[in-house]
Amino acid sequence: MPDKIVGNDFGPPKAGPKDGLQGGSPHKIVGNGFGPPKAGLHIEIDGKSHPVKAGENLLQAILSLGLDLPYFCWHPAMGSVGACRQCGVIQFKDANDAQGRVVMACMTPVAEGMRISLQGPDAKAFRAGILELLMTNHPHDCPVCEEGGECHLQDMTVMTGHTVRQYRGLKRTHRNQDLGPFINHEMNRCIACYRCVRYYQDYCGGDDLQVFASHNHVYFGRHEDGALENEFSGNLVEVCPTGVFTDKTFSRHYSRKWDLQTAPSVCVHCGIGCNTSPGERYGSLRRIVNRYHGEINGYFLCDRGRFGYGFVNGPARLYQARSAETGPLDVSTAENRLRAMLEDAKGIVGIGSPRASLEANFALRERVGAERFHAGIGDAEHGCLRTLLDLVRNLPLHLVSLREAERADAVLILGEDPTQTAPRLALALRQAVRNRALAIADELGIPHWQDAAVREAAQAEKSPLFIASPAPTRLDDIAARTCRASPRTIARLGFAVAHGICPEAPAVMGLTPEHEALAAEIAQALTSAERPLIVAGTGCLSEDVLRAVGQIAAALAAARPGRATAVHFAVPECNSLGLALMEAQSLAHAAHTIESGEADTLLILENDLYRRADRTTVDALLTRARQVIVIDHTLHATAERAHLVLPAASFAETEGTLVSSEGRAQRFFAAMQPAGDSRDGWRWLGPWPCLDDLTRALAGSLPVFQQITACAPGAAFRIAGQKIPRQPHRYSGRTAMLADIRIHEPKQPEDTDSALAFSMEGAANDHPPALNPFVWAPGWNSNQAVGKFQDEAGGHLSGGDPGIRLIGDGAGTGLPWSVPPETEASIADALRLVPLHHIFGSDETSMHSSAVAERAPHPYVALNPEDAARLGLAEGEEVELAPDVWLPVKCLPGLAAGIAGVPAGLPDLPVPVTAWQSWKPNKPGDETS
Ligand code: SF4
Ligand code: SF4
Ligand code: FES
Repeated sequence: MPDKIVGNDFGPPKAGPKDGLQGGSPHKIVGNGFGPPKAGLHIEIDGKSHPVKAGENLLQAILSLGLDLPYFCWHPAMGSVGACRQCGVIQFKDANDAQGRVVMACMTPVAEGMRISLQGPDAKAFRAGILELLMTNHPHDCPVCEEGGECHLQDMTVMTGHTVRQYRGLKRTHRNQDLGPFINHEMNRCIACYRCVRYYQDYCGGDDLQVFASHNHVYFGRHEDGALENEFSGNLVEVCPTGVFTDKTFSRHYSRKWDLQTAPSVCVHCGIGCNTSPGERYGSLRRIVNRYHGEINGYFLCDRGRFGYGFVNGPARLYQARSAETGPLDVSTAENRLRAMLEDAKGIVGIGSPRASLEANFALRERVGAERFHAGIGDAEHGCLRTLLDLVRNLPLHLVSLREAERADAVLILGEDPTQTAPRLALALRQAVRNRALAIADELGIPHWQDAAVREAAQAEKSPLFIASPAPTRLDDIAARTCRASPRTIARLGFAVAHGICPEAPAVMGLTPEHEALAAEIAQALTSAERPLIVAGTGCLSEDVLRAVGQIAAALAAARPGRATAVHFAVPECNSLGLALMEAQSLAHAAHTIESGEADTLLILENDLYRRADRTTVDALLTRARQVIVIDHTLHATAERAHLVLPAASFAETEGTLVSSEGRAQRFFAAMQPAGDSRDGWRWLGPWPCLDDLTRALAGSLPVFQQITACAPGAAFRIAGQKIPRQPHRYSGRTAMLADIRIHEPKQPEDTDSALAFSMEGAANDHPPALNPFVWAPGWNSNQAVGKFQDEAGGHLSGGDPGIRLIGDGAGTGLPWSVPPETEASIADALRLVPLHHIFGSDETSMHSSAVAERAPHPYVALNPEDAARLGLAEGEEVELAPDVWLPVKCLPGLAAGIAGVPAGLPDLPVPVTAWQSWKPNKPGDETS
């Protein structure tokens, strides 16, 4: 039994759970990512005394106080370099100094008693001069610039009072580049603040965006035209303070920011739960932008999350109910048909979905009964999620947020490629390895925000990151050590690490000397770290790997009594963990129920079963069922075989709750009305008048969800009697945009499910963070306005970061030590299949976005070059993966020997890798196995 948990490495302990899982208030981390809070100081700004935090720079302090000061190159996540000179203020030496001198606020540490002037004439004149200089080459093309209306440069120009251009000379011009399907490039708008390359190279580890040339001709781009390779390139759109980098997918159906109707939402393309703001115009979803969350995504999304929204308006979108017999149905006929089919059923098997909300899944569960409610995921993934929950309930684990992950000072990744399966986590881990640099900076007395100085001092020093995975990962460049092995061997390595940490954990026999040495090195690094973190997940579909994580967590707990071990389990879909917490039955159980005749009707919610199991199994299941009903927003192979298809609202048109891989339940809201006849999935299924009723029913029915009603204020919430407008006060054309239909302004649709209004009227301020559709403040039209919504620059949202953590630090009764798995038996001439994940390609819905699909790989079978040579296979040669499925061989240096990697989830790959199958490659002419 583990010692009583008194805390974890990232914060205070949480209240004891009833059943190993718990609800509680959002966990607030103390500190802001730039270091722990320091004692308060006072500085004098324009004659007024203000409290500030020691250790921060003047710009941070000024912005945190809610005052305005123009800036460009500083970014709260990236610190200061003093490049743009825009944040100049006057600093006075002492009380007698009347003249002062200009200092860059972002490069000046606050000090007790410091006297500065923000608004003095010299300070203002300096900033106006700098702005005018920066603008000499700027094209002033705001009317045709897609950044216009949400441009930081526009805001700063107005803020400094630069209204008349004196420069009459020629402007330098640049040739723009094709940067791929995500990003437009318009270099003439550049003000050379260097934020883009600092973000791309230093923060994201990208190496294909550079700065070229010098002084007036500096050029930010690639060495040649081509798609930006980094998976976080889309953030350039928000990082660049001007219109150099803009969203190319948005350009295709552009609308000004102030004409977009938005809502607070949550990304649906992996399990991380990044917060987003989808924007709608004319009934179509136009774009996704980041919505700041102090514990999860901070300022940044991944490119899948930003550009994967096309399915909402895509060609496969379902707008109308349809019957296999009679074709399209109107709504009332569809309702009658559904009722008749369910009344006629001799038992209904409900299949839920990890990409549907808790509420929609619960509605299905209520409709069919708990024992007939199935998770609708592959059996291997189902087994992994059960194991994962078992660990979470019984071991001293702390599921970290991404902010916490960034603070880890030693990381072990087992069996996962986070960039592909949980992308935003990978970006957090890239920051974690910088903790060694920050420690060196502390030793030298360099503040963390002195970005260039910290990098110079630390050189290549990094906190240790160990990666054991079947294939090379996108984090290998920052890893201290990598190990390429099969999932079974990775698990054995993990068990050996546990033994190295705590000798009571069983030893692993038969490891290679290299693996023994590596296990000892990892054990040493984790034991000596202050904030060790283990990352794993369902990526390689191995329960052994997850058990190894449990073993390491138990070993660390034994070595560090009373501390919960920090873990992040990557899960594949936006509600994978929420669905797992519902304890649904497996897909195999669903097949058995239909096969045995106990039920003859399948009611499938937002799920394409052909992605979950092999074609033969799914064909058999759908054929045996007398009636198949599918509720979904997108047409897919399963829906094509259904007797009745009912159109569901997409995430942008409905509301509900999702549980992230951190165990955080978060509410998302509709940005627009459901398209066509589609409606909330749960509205097809049940009698609940509004979402709040359904959420309450779920909270009352399953104890683990007891707290979810507190994720966000309910539909009755009002501010001074008013709802919260989804449209900004500058929204235009509400009457004119529909004038071709009728000349009277239509009544705005009513939203009975939330406190948000499809309108520009309502309470403009003081929105609770969970209900805030967009950020805007007077003078701050760009995304930098978020600073006005934070408790401090780069900190938490004022009022608390949204969401409720459902999973507390493990305080169960513990698990006995597990026995390490045996070495796998080798199979003559055969390989074992493992899924290889792709940020662009492996997620179902984002592949309906043409921009994402353009970046996805074509199907392949990856082999280690030595294995390929041994089997007589050459690059590009076709092999038979499954009966009549031929794929080209891709030689992948670094892939573990003895395994074959198959891309997970590609739509034109009809064979999901569902388990640790063995596979013998056939070439044309071979006898088919
Ligand atoms: S492209 Fe944008 S972010 Fe990069 S230097 Fe120019 S203005 Fe700054
Ligand atoms: S990391 Fe996941 S949740 Fe976050 S933006 Fe990317 S796909 Fe969406
Ligand atoms: S923000 Fe201070 S110099 Fe650029």
